[in-house]
Amino acid sequence: MKKIAMPIIILVMIGIGAFLAISWAKQPEPKVKTLVEKEKVGVTLISVYDNYQVNPELKTDWGFGCLVKSEKENILFDTGGNSSILLFNLEKMKVDPDQIDKIVISHIHGDHVGGLKGFLKENGDVTVYIPVSFPDSIRKEIESYGARYKDIKEPERISEGIFSTGELGTWIKEQSLIITTQKGLVVITGCAHPGVVNIVKRAKEMFPEEKVYLVLGGFHRPPMAVVKQFRELGVKKVAPSHCTGDPVREAFREEYKEDFIEYGVGKIIKIKEAKLGKVKEKKRVIKTKAKGEIIKYEEESFYSEDDFALILENEDEFKSQLIERFKKEIIGVTAENCKVDLNQSKKSVLLKCDVIGARYGTNSYNMHFLLGNWPFCLYEFKEYEKKLVYDGKLDNVSTLIVFEFPYAYGHCCEHVWPK
Ligand SMILES: [Fe+2]
Repeated sequence: MKKIAMPIIILVMIGIGAFLAISWAKQPEPKVKTLVEKEKVGVTLISVYDNYQVNPELKTDWGFGCLVKSEKENILFDTGGNSSILLFNLEKMKVDPDQIDKIVISHIHGDHVGGLKGFLKENGDVTVYIPVSFPDSIRKEIESYGARYKDIKEPERISEGIFSTGELGTWIKEQSLIITTQKGLVVITGCAHPGVVNIVKRAKEMFPEEKVYLVLGGFHRPPMAVVKQFRELGVKKVAPSHCTGDPVREAFREEYKEDFIEYGVGKIIKIKEAKLGKVKEKKRVIKTKAKGEIIKYEEESFYSEDDFALILENEDEFKSQLIERFKKEIIGVTAENCKVDLNQSKKSVLLKCDVIGARYGTNSYNMHFLLGNWPFCLYEFKEYEKKLVYDGKLDNVSTLIVFEFPYAYGHCCEHVWPK
């Protein structure tokens, strides 16, 4: 009995092993973009350590340090080479070391990590994000001041809207910061040893739907072709400093003109928060009225007092975003003569557009241009003589939809025709 059982057990085990090996091999590689979420934050960037100077009250020194202030946290990216210069500059910029919550160190070179020890003496209540390749001695040192460390290997979220690219490069490994703002991605590099173009490419991989608004920091004397490559990557603004090298910096200045930011110690860059992204309608009414070639589209959205105040504050931006969103969402048709009106007493916003391209045949309409985006079709509408009405939820918002036609109709899931 045992003689037969043993080979069977071995065969079964080999089988299980092979199955596990195949299913393991089939596991898709986790994509970078799935590791991070998208958030739009407002930030103020303050250069507190650099060999270039913008504010003469601050001290310059070879190295890099940039303070990222968001609504939630203050993050110091690199500490320069000398803590007394770092602390002097922080004081001049009216930043108390105690206000800093997190420190991110790009790479191991002294002009980026040198100020860390002296800073931790002032404020040990921080988490220091270091590349995983750092030697243990640095971890011990961080802990000796009561601070915490976090090893970074892969792309990771550091704070709301603020991410690490993860450790890049082969010889000198380095992490860079990516901030998701309403204007696009802001990429901050310490020295860019892995190649500043590679770093920008990593940022785009992590957030494929976002444009690169600004690349800031040390670019590590890249070849001149970097200027053209930045244009090809769609980088809107540049703020090269520290180890970029004057010739490349000047080439950027010439190419980018008003989009070149003179960056150096003391420079402050403010990027506003995407406040409008946070407004949410309480209720909406969507009406369409078909007449000949045109379907008149009307969408009235109602807001809370606070949200409506925010809309009023950013009226032009809100109006253009609303029209842009509608034009992007509709399927297979075009929207013309779009107009947005704000109603102060109702706290509502009314969007009106002429939709062209939904009529087919003699006088039938294809309502797919809206229904294609919605989780229901005309079968869920109530039928009236010339109207189809839906009263329910759309994206969790109470929504009344009224489709009106110039005749008594017959309909299927998305099409409407004269009876
Ligand atoms: Fe450097």
